[in-house]
Amino acid sequence: MTCNVVVLISGSGSNLQALIDSQQPDNPMRIVAVISNRADAYGLERAKTAGIATRVLSHRDYSDREAFDGALVEAIDACQPDLVVLAGFMRILTPGFVRHYQGRLLNIHPSLLPRHKGLDTHRRALEAGDREHGCSVHFVTEELDGGPVAIQASILIGAGDDLDSLANRVHEQEHRIYPLAVRWFAEGRLRLAEQGAMLDGHLLPASGYCFTN
Ligand code: GAR
Repeated sequence: MTCNVVVLISGSGSNLQALIDSQQPDNPMRIVAVISNRADAYGLERAKTAGIATRVLSHRDYSDREAFDGALVEAIDACQPDLVVLAGFMRILTPGFVRHYQGRLLNIHPSLLPRHKGLDTHRRALEAGDREHGCSVHFVTEELDGGPVAIQASILIGAGDDLDSLANRVHEQEHRIYPLAVRWFAEGRLRLAEQGAMLDGHLLPASGYCFTN
């Protein structure tokens, strides 16, 4: 059975591209629409090139967060998705939105959660002198960047690393783990239970399924 996915973006959409590229015949996931809160998001071009329906919903056209999220829910639900994927969607979502998609809302975050929630993660990892950095795919809950982790990929920070190299190296890992998490979800292997994220019926550890590099 096909797993219909709606992807939300705000920017370049390189993670969206990785998901588009993973749409192979043996993968049950299909991206049915890409929605952006910014008309100039390059990811919209990527979607159009792949023949995927796009929609722009600018948060500036709404009086407050509730009104925007309400319109977003309508736009998403019109596509009847099985899964909603946040791929660089730079908006804080209301509790109502998050509850509506409980268990079928994934996000990718550029750090080894729970370390460095929020923005500017690469700079903060460097400034903290972290030896390790990476990215996490997690189920979204009402706690910002706090939901159960499905997969994490870590890299070692080298003496020669700067903001750019770190961002590139983390991106590379994101492009590896996000399509995998979405595929696992589409195959019915990954799900959110009351106790946390489960893979193949087993509770994953707090750091999720881990790849070390
Ligand atoms: C990614 O690095 C993703 O982890 C980050 O935005 C970037 C989007 O890149 N997301 C967040 O920081 C969410 N808090 P992309 O548009 O090239 O996929």
